[in-house]
Amino acid sequence: MSDDPYSLAGKRLLVTGASSGLGRAIAIACAGRGAAIVATGRDEPRLGDTRAALEGDGHAVVVADLNEAEGRNKVIAACGTLDGIVHSAGISRLSPMRLATPQHLADVWKINYEAPMLMTQKLLAKNLVAANGSILFMSSIAAYIGVAGVGAYSGTKAALIATMRCMAMEVAKRGIRVNCLAPALVETPLLAATESIVASLDAQRAAYPLGFGKPADVANAAVFFLSGASRWITGTTLVMDGGLTIS
Ligand SMILES: NC(=O)c1ccc[n+]([C@@H]2O[C@H](COP(=O)([O-])OP(=O)(O)OC[C@H]3O[C@@H](n4cnc5c(N)ncnc54)[C@H](OP(=O)(O)O)[C@@H]3O)[C@@H](O)[C@H]2O)c1
Repeated sequence: MSDDPYSLAGKRLLVTGASSGLGRAIAIACAGRGAAIVATGRDEPRLGDTRAALEGDGHAVVVADLNEAEGRNKVIAACGTLDGIVHSAGISRLSPMRLATPQHLADVWKINYEAPMLMTQKLLAKNLVAANGSILFMSSIAAYIGVAGVGAYSGTKAALIATMRCMAMEVAKRGIRVNCLAPALVETPLLAATESIVASLDAQRAAYPLGFGKPADVANAAVFFLSGASRWITGTTLVMDGGLTIS
């Protein structure tokens, strides 16, 4: 065993949303620190690209739609006992609240909140999270600040934080930790999709003292939360925003 507290050697981690953006960067960073990754997403070719970028052995890839019970069960069946989970699958949809339809609310809720909660519930119920395991939800700065057009999305991200705290209390007796990351804008395909709708993100970019984030910035934080270096940290949310909320 390594005496590097940031090592992930010997750990088995589930990373959802591993076919793109933050999930892909997290899977790659964790494999680089010695973890075996169960990588899941819907897009088989992009998931294959992630798999090809993973260092080391013991990785598994599962193509699945996490909005479907069948997809979630398929992933759980491939997991084995996990030392950590990163729930990075998620979507962003824009709508002012006065125009938000039931479908809009349901779409963001289902994958951003319901799917990670149902996955975690089942993994815990089946005792597939090892003692001293670490569970990480992907919240967002949107849980803390008001931005026109992202009301439903922001609600899902705030809900993750609230439930994460309760779950942290429930599993602490098993030594399992539960935390959230709350990034502001990071340069991923999700951000590119937003930019294509709102025309320009120049005003937002100017509000970030350290600029927009890179996927590796979030991946490095995830490595910390999944490793023994964070063994005394649970129930917290790490805001990572390049100085946005202090500026
Ligand atoms: N980028 C940012 O600025 C930012 C900031 C704060 C928080 N976040 C959060 O970080 C997470 C990842 O965002 P990202 O920027 O990496 O987005 P992304 O590049 O669009 O990736 C989203 C991932 O979620 C997966 N996914 C979506 N719906 C799914 C479903 N029904 N079943 C299974 N997988 C599904 C996608 O899989 P396929 O592509 O294979 O379908 C993809 O791997 C999200 O929760 C997002 O809200 C992002």
